[in-house]
Amino acid sequence: MALFVKKWNFQDRIIAPSLLAADFGRVADETTRAINSGADWLHLDVMDGHFVDNISFGPALIQAIHETNDVFLDVHLMITRPDHFLPRFVAAGADMITVHIEPEADHDVALTLKAIREAGCQAGLALNPATPFEAVVPHLQDIDLLLAMTVVPGFGGQSFMPEVMPKIEEAVAFRTEHELAYHIEVDGGIGAETAPIAIAAGANALVAGSSTFNAPDMKEAVSRIRKSQIAPEEAP
Ligand code: DX5
Ligand code: ZN
Repeated sequence: MALFVKKWNFQDRIIAPSLLAADFGRVADETTRAINSGADWLHLDVMDGHFVDNISFGPALIQAIHETNDVFLDVHLMITRPDHFLPRFVAAGADMITVHIEPEADHDVALTLKAIREAGCQAGLALNPATPFEAVVPHLQDIDLLLAMTVVPGFGGQSFMPEVMPKIEEAVAFRTEHELAYHIEVDGGIGAETAPIAIAAGANALVAGSSTFNAPDMKEAVSRIRKSQIAPEEAP
């Protein structure tokens, strides 16, 4: 965990390129490219081949990034036993650790969130497109970030699911009503065309993999997402 001068709150727009779309042969350089392109956070998708049908990378790679670059590490665990592996991600330098609510994740979510905070990290809770907002409600007092998946997790490059937006609106209403301060992050299919939809619904942290790392000009891609907003005539 690094100490950042800048502290983000849910009013800040945060752009978090996902390393999953980077060139894995040049991970340190790709991270530097993301930072130089204006990334606020680096999003790190950890997949174990059980919780999702893909295997990505683990704590060793995250530690290598931590040692070579100074950027807020937003670690998204798509693994069945986040509680078991948690200490290794903390030691690797994670700043935010997000775990899933779904029952396939075989752990006590409340205990895991508590352990994340006790380890000095920020705690995030993710829900899949098919999971209703009610599932996360018991934990909303205990998190720093709510991650609404806008694709079925497992792979980059999928299409944004606008049907998730009502859940984001529910999360905003709950946050206001209970005077909470969690970020609302969206992940999957985010680019300059879809970001305005998520922002209009109330998301402030935007994960973007393919649309940033695979863009001809990453800086331009990050900047377009940062500046994007829904046209007034289309706003809800
Ligand atoms: C999907 C991952 C996402 C993914 C997003 O399981 O959680 O973070 O990298 O990739 P894009 O932006 O390409 O949809
Ligand atoms: Zn992710």
